[in-house]
Amino acid sequence: MKLTMVNKKELLISLLTFLVFVSQCVGSLNPSLNDDVLGLIVFKADLQDPKAKLSSWNQDDDTPCNWVAVKCNPRSNRVTELTLDGFSLSGRIGRGLLQLQFLHKLSLARNNLTGSIGPSLARLENLRIIDLSENSFSGSIPDDFLKQCGSLRSISLAKNKFSGKIPGSLSSCATLASINLSSNQFSGSLPAGIWDLSGLRSLDLSDNLLEGEIPKGIEVMNNLRAINLSKNQFTGEFPGGIGSCSLLRSIDLSDNSISGYLPETMQKLSLCNYLSLRNNLLAGEFPSWIGEMKGLETLDLSGNRFSGQVPNSIGNLQSLAVLNLSGNGLSGNLPESMANCGNLLALDFSRNSMSGDLPAWIFGLGSEKVIHSGNKLGRLNSLPKLQVLDLSANKFSGKFSSSIEVLSSLQFLNLSVNSLVGPIPGTIGELKELYILDLSENRLNGSIPLEFGGAFSLKELRLERNLLTGKIPSSIGNCSSLTTLILSQNNLTGPIPAAIAKLTSLQDVDLSFNSLTGGLPKQLANLPNLSSFNISHNQLQGELPAGGFFNTISPFSVIGNPSLCGAAVNKSCPAVLPKPIVLNPNSSSDSAPDVLPENLGHKRIILSISALIAIGAAAVIVVGVIAITVLNLRVRSTSRSAAAQTLSAGDDFSHSPTTDANSGKLVMFSGDPNFSTGAHALLNKDCELGRGGFGAVYRTVLQDGHPVAIKKLTVSSLVKSQEDFEREVKKLGKVRHQNLVALEGYYWTPSLQLLIYEFVSGGSLYKHLHEGSVGNFLSWNERFNIILGTAKSLAHLHQSNIIHYNIKSSNVLIDSSGEPKVGDFGLARLLPMLDRYVLSSKIQSALGYMAPEFACRTVKITEKCDVYGFGVLVLEVVTGKRPVEYMEDDVVVLCDMVRGALEEGRIEECVDERLQGNFPADEAVPVMKLGLICTSQVPSNRPDMGEVVNILELIRCPSEGQEELG
Ligand SMILES: *[C@@H]1O[C@H](CO)[C@@H](O)[C@H](O)[C@H]1NC(C)=O
Ligand SMILES: *[C@@H]1O[C@H](CO)[C@@H](O)[C@H](O)[C@H]1NC(C)=O
Ligand SMILES: *[C@@H]1O[C@H](CO)[C@@H](O)[C@H](O)[C@H]1NC(C)=O
Ligand SMILES: *[C@@H]1O[C@H](CO)[C@@H](O)[C@H](O)[C@H]1NC(C)=O
Repeated sequence: MKLTMVNKKELLISLLTFLVFVSQCVGSLNPSLNDDVLGLIVFKADLQDPKAKLSSWNQDDDTPCNWVAVKCNPRSNRVTELTLDGFSLSGRIGRGLLQLQFLHKLSLARNNLTGSIGPSLARLENLRIIDLSENSFSGSIPDDFLKQCGSLRSISLAKNKFSGKIPGSLSSCATLASINLSSNQFSGSLPAGIWDLSGLRSLDLSDNLLEGEIPKGIEVMNNLRAINLSKNQFTGEFPGGIGSCSLLRSIDLSDNSISGYLPETMQKLSLCNYLSLRNNLLAGEFPSWIGEMKGLETLDLSGNRFSGQVPNSIGNLQSLAVLNLSGNGLSGNLPESMANCGNLLALDFSRNSMSGDLPAWIFGLGSEKVIHSGNKLGRLNSLPKLQVLDLSANKFSGKFSSSIEVLSSLQFLNLSVNSLVGPIPGTIGELKELYILDLSENRLNGSIPLEFGGAFSLKELRLERNLLTGKIPSSIGNCSSLTTLILSQNNLTGPIPAAIAKLTSLQDVDLSFNSLTGGLPKQLANLPNLSSFNISHNQLQGELPAGGFFNTISPFSVIGNPSLCGAAVNKSCPAVLPKPIVLNPNSSSDSAPDVLPENLGHKRIILSISALIAIGAAAVIVVGVIAITVLNLRVRSTSRSAAAQTLSAGDDFSHSPTTDANSGKLVMFSGDPNFSTGAHALLNKDCELGRGGFGAVYRTVLQDGHPVAIKKLTVSSLVKSQEDFEREVKKLGKVRHQNLVALEGYYWTPSLQLLIYEFVSGGSLYKHLHEGSVGNFLSWNERFNIILGTAKSLAHLHQSNIIHYNIKSSNVLIDSSGEPKVGDFGLARLLPMLDRYVLSSKIQSALGYMAPEFACRTVKITEKCDVYGFGVLVLEVVTGKRPVEYMEDDVVVLCDMVRGALEEGRIEECVDERLQGNFPADEAVPVMKLGLICTSQVPSNRPDMGEVVNILELIRCPSEGQEELG
């Protein structure tokens, strides 16, 4: 029963569609059917209406005049208005609408309609208003779309995906008053006849890809009230005639490349309240006539090349609320006349060359501003509403005014990078609305006032690079919203107040380069949102807090505090642990890591200890490999089926980012989602490039032809929560270096995680060294470049606070030009915790590269473990031998072999036989010595990667350094 009804309805609609078609082609129609009912029903049939907004539209009605969203002319009963804004409709506009011959207004804003618009809409001769804004229409506008635009007054196609040129026929719509094509992808230049539309009141073409000059002749536009051409690529001279458009209220030409000067005629625009020319190439003296534009409420000329002084006349702009002149070349001081601009909310003069004392009138200190109210002597506040004051990066000098409290509405105060002197006044604590305070890089002295605690809205406090002394006041604990606290590079003394541990919103704390003393409050470990905490270069002592953020704190954040102990500083605390384990009994405490020791000949006993450690580590590895294999077997069976499911979902893969319980989330950091062809590769063994501790790697090609390598993580059960995973992966994605394999994106479902990497074509270093064909081996120069490039990449990683953990020759890829690219970095961060057991078993699975401290529970693992692995790699590259070679009944550990050869004075024999007679000994020998130093048993004896890079560069160009390395 139901079924037949549905069928009947469908039948009827196709019949109606046919009728519409016939009527439009032949021009005759069954007179008993109401044209408008017919048109609307056919229109509705082309749409999806998930919220059933159009349920009242019933084809059995005689007239549509009572239907939702439909308005009729009461006399003719013909439909005149159709307003379907925000109805959640999707689908395309079909031919049905053409039936509504008396339609005045068609408004379909804020739906999800798609497809292009054909020329036919314009056939509706009576249309006055078309609003198709905020949909997903695409394609270009046919040039004849507006050819017969009859009585069109207003057209909006804003916020769609239209592209192509703006049709020239636009200029023939003489009746147009409002055009809004903003936020599309229109390109090309403006139609030359645009200024023929003399009735135009509002023109919004912002946020497109338009280019070329703004056509001449704008001066005739004497009805124009608002023009917005912002966010395009317009070039050429500023349209001088704009000063003749005397009704203009709003001018926005920001974010283009318009050059030239502001014409004096602009001062005639006394009705103009909004003028933004931000981020263009305008030049010349700051205009003195600006005071004539008395209607201005917003004036934004920031990011241009204006010069000279700010004229006194600016004080005439009494309605001004937002004044932004930042990023120009303005000089001199702010004129006192500005004290009259009592409506100012935001004042931004940052990044100019302004000089003189901080303007006193801002703080109500102008001479004429002292008034008597009643019998009390009071100060009249000149800018009572000011919320934003940014005078940063100028040359202001003088003292910081203690009457800052008159600016009681202030929310944002930035006076950084000036030459202010004297103390910070305690009155700053009166600013209850203040949430950002930046006074960094001045010459402020004295102590941080206790009263700071009064500014309880503060979120960001930056006082770095001043001359502040004294203690950090405990009252800072009252600023409970504080997220950022930067006090570095002052001369602060005393302890870190325990009250800081109450500030649970804290994320970034930098107290480095001061003279702070005492221990660290244990409770700091409870701060839940901390992402950096730098206390380096102070005189702090005692134990680092344990737990929370402090378990993974970077050593760079704590160095330079000789009396601090704990894992992060690689120094155990005497009271807690019985005795630090000395890995190398012969290493003396004075052997600094950055000096190449003359005596590399260690005694046999040391070597045997290192061998013991290597063997111990090997045992851990064997156990680990077995455990992980078992895990993998279990995970693989589940993730296979999950992968198959996802991949069969086909299209879901091509969106970026997609979140859907079934299909997972794909994120490409470049924003390019063309991933769908990548899917099949995962199940195709032929595309497999290799397998590592973390999973298999496949090669595939994106839709745009761009090849990528996809790593399928097989340790799913060890991976963090989605949130943690994404945070870590995004961090890894941000690291870019020419010697690192770029991480381009990732894909997440609970059971399957993929990492998408740049594809490097030349194969791994391992292959080149150990599997290359006979006549085709790496030359000395190529090897040296590989060593140097690898060192640079590691130095870069360490600078970004990332430890590689897994450096080995199979992780160094060689690109087509012979440059090394290091891959697989930082994956340990994806594990739920940096567990030594997992690290050594899962990651450092290649025996021989693993630093001895992995086998030693009490030594913190730092970036120095990469230096060790790098040292082994250096020896491997120079000698062409694997780090550990298994002979018939002997195991040869490469570093021990090279070290032995050095002792016996025949180190040159260690160089790869394929290079014999064909390498510069004055490079190869120091490089091998460097490799040996990098493989020192005690982490602190190994140089930093930055130092390694310097040493390598010295080896290559010995003339530039005085030190003799050989
Ligand atoms: C458009 O569609 C998307 C999903 O397809 C939906 O999330 C969104 O709410 C829709 N927008 C409107 C205005 O209905
Ligand atoms: C143009 O349309 C967009 C989107 O609907 C709107 O935000 C904007 O204010 C409109 N521009 C003008 C000048 O009305
Ligand atoms: C001009 O358009 C841009 C982008 O669409 C918008 O952000 C800006 O607010 C508009 N300007 C005015 C004065 O409305
Ligand atoms: C920092 O303070 C110490 C002790 O008061 C003093 O010796 C030192 O000169 C000061 N350093 C600077 C840069 O002011």
